[in-house]
Amino acid sequence: MRVVQKMSRAILITLITATTCSLGSCGQSGTDAASGTNTRAPSLTAATLGEQTVLSPKDYLAQDKYAAVDTGRGEALSMQCRACHTLEQGGANVSGPNLFGVFARTAGSAPDYLYSEVLAAGGFVWTPRALDAWLAQPFAFLPGNRMSFPGLTDGNDRNAVIAYLLQVTDGGT
Ligand code: HEC
Repeated sequence: MRVVQKMSRAILITLITATTCSLGSCGQSGTDAASGTNTRAPSLTAATLGEQTVLSPKDYLAQDKYAAVDTGRGEALSMQCRACHTLEQGGANVSGPNLFGVFARTAGSAPDYLYSEVLAAGGFVWTPRALDAWLAQPFAFLPGNRMSFPGLTDGNDRNAVIAYLLQVTDGGT
């Protein structure tokens, strides 16, 4: 009986370690691992992003999870974003900031847009990984921000929107 208890504790510790690593705190993969087709909301937040690998939009688009998605679906889903954001170069800030060139841009740094204090002070860079976590649960990702959007719970939908945004907001970074 005691042996069994010891064994299950060892398994539990292994599981905890594996979970922590899968959240990204055990080293970063070179490909900026987002949650893929995971439909569970990622528990990644602005505070736990850590050091990120920043690639060009084209390099992200070459990754399987974005290359394989239906960008037509991403475009359709992006209509939700367009209610509050323009995506084109030189587009206006409306209720949300213009998103052209958002990838590799520091959060809260679009010119002439008045951000919430938390986003202005965010200090992280927008990567597909960060955007995936933001879009899954905007309020959990950065408590106190002003984007009144409930989030996209389906990981495939987030990948589709992200792939579409990688295409249309590419400022040549
Ligand atoms: C109801 C309006 C609304 C909708 C819908 C919305 N947003 Fe936003 N978004 C905002 C606002 C407002 C902010 C600024 C939040 C702040 O300052 O805290 C923002 C901020 C952002 C930022 C941070 C930009 C930066 O410069 O740091 C990103 C990225 C973003 N939104 C992406 C999206 C995407 C992608 C969608 C669609 C899936 C979307 N938003 C839908 C209102 C919206």
